[in-house]
Amino acid sequence: MRLHIVSIALGGCLKAEPVRYGITEDTGGHISYILGEMQALAERADVSRAEIVTRLFDVPGLDPVHALAHERVTEKLSITRIDSGNRAYLAKDALSADRAAFAAALIAELRGRARLPDIIHAHFADAADVAAQVERALGIPFVYTAHSLGKDKAAALGGEHTAGHRARIAEETRAIAGASAIIGSSRDECERQIPAYRAAAIGKTHRIAPGVCPPVQSATALEDARALIAPFLRDPDKPVLLAIARPVHKKNLARLVDAFGSSAMLRERCNLVVLAGLRDEAPPPGSEQAEVLHDLFAAIDRHDLYGRVAYPKSHTRDEVGGLYRLAAQSGGLFVNPALMEPYGLTLIEAASHGLPVVATKVGGPLDILAELEHGVLIEPTSVADIRTAMERIMQDRSLWTRYARNAAANVRSMSWAAYAGAFMAIARSIVEATPQAATASHVRHLVVSDIDNTLTGCTSGAARFAGFFTRRRDFAFAVATGRSLVEARRLVRDWGLPRPAAWIASVGSEIYWDRGGSLELDALFAETIAQGWDAEAITHACEDIPGLVPQAIYEQRRFKRSYLTETPQVAALVRERLAAHGLPARVIFSHGNMLDILPLRAGKGAAMCFVADMLGVARSDVFAAGDSGNDEDMLSACDNAILVGNHSEEVAALRDRPNVYVARRSFGAGALEGVLSHRRTRRKLANARFGS
Ligand code: GLC
Ligand code: MG
Repeated sequence: MRLHIVSIALGGCLKAEPVRYGITEDTGGHISYILGEMQALAERADVSRAEIVTRLFDVPGLDPVHALAHERVTEKLSITRIDSGNRAYLAKDALSADRAAFAAALIAELRGRARLPDIIHAHFADAADVAAQVERALGIPFVYTAHSLGKDKAAALGGEHTAGHRARIAEETRAIAGASAIIGSSRDECERQIPAYRAAAIGKTHRIAPGVCPPVQSATALEDARALIAPFLRDPDKPVLLAIARPVHKKNLARLVDAFGSSAMLRERCNLVVLAGLRDEAPPPGSEQAEVLHDLFAAIDRHDLYGRVAYPKSHTRDEVGGLYRLAAQSGGLFVNPALMEPYGLTLIEAASHGLPVVATKVGGPLDILAELEHGVLIEPTSVADIRTAMERIMQDRSLWTRYARNAAANVRSMSWAAYAGAFMAIARSIVEATPQAATASHVRHLVVSDIDNTLTGCTSGAARFAGFFTRRRDFAFAVATGRSLVEARRLVRDWGLPRPAAWIASVGSEIYWDRGGSLELDALFAETIAQGWDAEAITHACEDIPGLVPQAIYEQRRFKRSYLTETPQVAALVRERLAAHGLPARVIFSHGNMLDILPLRAGKGAAMCFVADMLGVARSDVFAAGDSGNDEDMLSACDNAILVGNHSEEVAALRDRPNVYVARRSFGAGALEGVLSHRRTRRKLANARFGS
């Protein structure tokens, strides 16, 4: 069945490109998101029609196309404008008064059609309210994208809630509650901000990275960028080390200057360019901006960096684009040394220009670099670490080239076409309302598998693994991963893995069940592991252990405290510390640099046993596959354990155990090989026992 998809947005001047972004306050980024999304959907064979729905208005000074009820964009993509009876352009705050009329007019319009759309994508909470009314009237389900959430904004502004803010948050809460699925862009949004509204929302939240629009630039952008920095520099042709950040303390710019200034090699071979916001006039004394600039200039003085550092006071969007390009062309780097970076869009922008990066390991960059593999992560509090990373890439041309190539190639996967593929997988599961993956009645066996590098890594291996489960309905599948639920879901979707009956997430500290597409937290398991767990006391006890750096805030879960560390010995130190404080917990070291602290009764192994019991599968019929440190307890606890061929050294000790099968093949094919091999062995044993 081909789907007809509608996207609704009420605000801004929504029309086909060219869009004049900024022509009204609300004509912003969401419009390029909607156009990118809907264009890519329209190009798919499984989409019959992509239709954007927005308000109709007729106002002198704004494009007359906004008064057209129908704008055809391409064969399958069109914009429908609904006349609410008020043809004025309405800014965000005035829109709510018009909403009831808009919704009524839209429902009337839809009622007149021969065929209704299959699903609606609502952008912002006001459109979600309209979509909810349409659903009540006509039964069309909707998915919701928030774009930006009020709760977080309020928190950032000191938590002050005005009446308007409270209304906004209430409306967002209704949108989150009513949507069949919620789509977000970043991990922080999906795993921290959305669940802050309703914890259960995580069960229907999906992360899809929006497409990155290829950089469009004026012909003179490169020249303009050069002209911007040349007045500062003795030799403007040297490779550019570029940093772009708002002038706030947490961006850590003075340390970057220290790192640059203390390296003879970097001073000699490169220029440093720092764009720290706009300085139209001197910042008010005592302001954060004034302090940051003071520190920055003091660092430049300290290292006598005159002629080697450029810090233009203003810049246009075009010049910024030009600077990225200049940095890439000159063989330079982009550097983000922030003490904490929530997402890190600049790193993606750098990638789209083929520019390698050095970036903080605190926050979003961790995920971005894992995906794009276009640079090195650094500990932002260490000048030496920042310096060494920059030197390493600048000294090694082949490394630089590899990162530059990865950047350009991998950023392409963050395309609107990839987005549309993921969107369709979610839309289908809603429209076709596929029932539960596995019902206990016909399940006899359970395969529990880690995801990263056990099932991912090879597309055809993943497909073979998935194929097995479509043939064998008596086999239930469960994932057991260190990742969060949202990330696990993204990987299962993007790698085409079988639909799990149960999801063991966050290193076996959370279990979710598939309830017809929505995932539901297992409260009983949570209750079981909660005993004796005191996350706050644990965080406190580990605060000052040297070399132990907390992972991003969204990695800290109710029953999981996660850290990064370069030294495996730290694990012993953490165990000692917890014991000294009388805090029972399980400490798991994996991937050579990750350390998780979990409740004593949690872990992949415990969760696997719990899931098997709930499905009524005997322990002897449970299979478990893995590849690294956080799989160890699960592989130890399983009679039919499998190490994929590409398993890491940290689990080498398991190889000789009688319950462990070491696959010849790697990744998904290796996991499947293990399941089949264990099955054969079991059958032989059974036959021998019964003498047949
Ligand atoms: C995943 C999690 C991380 C954890 C690691 C090891 O990468 O995201 O928090 O430390 O697995 O278990
Ligand atoms: Mg793994």
